[in-house]
Order: sequence, then structure tokens, then C-alpha cells
Amino acid sequence: MNRRYVHLLFVLVCAGVLFVLFRAPPVSTPRLPPDATHADRKAYEACPSCHGRDSETAMPEDHLTPAGPVRPDHLKCYFCHKPTET
Ligand code: HEC
Ligand code: HEC
Repeated sequence: MNRRYVHLLFVLVCAGVLFVLFRAPPVSTPRLPPDATHADRKAYEACPSCHGRDSETAMPEDHLTPAGPVRPDHLKCYFCHKPTET
């Protein structure tokens, strides 16, 4: 193929990728409240003590194993729960 077309194809593919990314919905995972309790968002060992199944601010069932503890892929809360933007 002519080099010119290869470059054109590359540009079109990049434009397509950018188009899809810009159309993505805004972050929908609930953010951490901007209070002292949530200031150290990487202290994930402490989170379940207040957000366990029986607490008032329980995390959703899909975060937990049936036996009680947090599922291994949900241990590190800060991967998904970002601080509130200020
Ligand atoms: C001392 C108890 C306590 C600890 C520890 C705690 N939280 Fe919370 N959290 C609360 C309370 C109470 C609320 C609800 C009040 C509010 O929205 O300000 C809340 C709200 C939240 C929310 C927002 C829920 C919503 O409805 O938008 C998220 C997300 C959250 N916490 C995640 C975490 C994570 C992650 C950690 C660990 C870094 C953590 N929390 C540690 C008590 C706690
Ligand atoms: C893989 C991404 C992910 C991880 C890891 C994760 N969460 Fe969540 N969390 C979500 C999403 C998405 C929602 C909202 C969907 C829903 O309500 O089911 C949510 C909802 C919540 C809520 C309820 C907020 C509300 O408004 O009702 C709390 C509390 C919470 N998470 C706490 C935690 C805690 C504590 C941890 C760590 C032990 C954690 N999450 C780890 C993705 C995650």
C-alpha cells in the first residue's frame, strides 16, 4: 500500500479511539466525602469497620463475600472510590 494511505489510516484510527474516549460517561462511582474520616483514602483496612454489611452506610453486596469479608477484588477501595473534586 502507498505510504500516504498508511499514515492516513493511522490518523483515522487515532481519531476513532479519541472519539470513543471523549464520549465516555462521567465517573459514576460514588466519591469519598471530603471529611476527616475519609482523608486517608488509602487506609483501606479501616473502611469495612464502618461500611460492613450491617452498618448504616453498608457497601453494596457485590463488594462482599457471602461469608462477610470484602471480596479480594474489592479490598483496595481507593482504586475505584476517588476523593471529591474541589
Ligand atoms: C469512622 C467510620 C468510617 C470510616 C472509617 C470510613 N467511612 Fe466512609 N462513610 C462513613 C459515613 C458515616 C458516611 C456517610 C456520611 C457522608 O456521606 O458524609 C460515609 C460515606 C462514604 C462514601 C460515600 C457514600 C455515598 O453515599 O456517596 C464512600 C464511597 C465511602 N464512605 C467509602 C469509604 C472508604 C473507601 C473508606 C476507607 C478509606 C471509608 N469510607 C472509611 C463512615 C466511615
Ligand atoms: C472495583 C471498583 C470498586 C472497589 C474496589 C470498591 N468499590 Fe465501593 N462501589 C463501587 C461502585 C461502582 C459503587 C456504586 C454501585 C452500587 O451502588 O452498587 C460502589 C458503592 C459503594 C458504597 C455505597 C455508596 C452509596 O452511595 O450508597 C460504599 C459505602 C462503598 N462502595 C464502599 C467501598 C469500600 C469500603 C470499599 C473497599 C473495601 C470499596 N467500596 C471498594 C466500586 C468499587
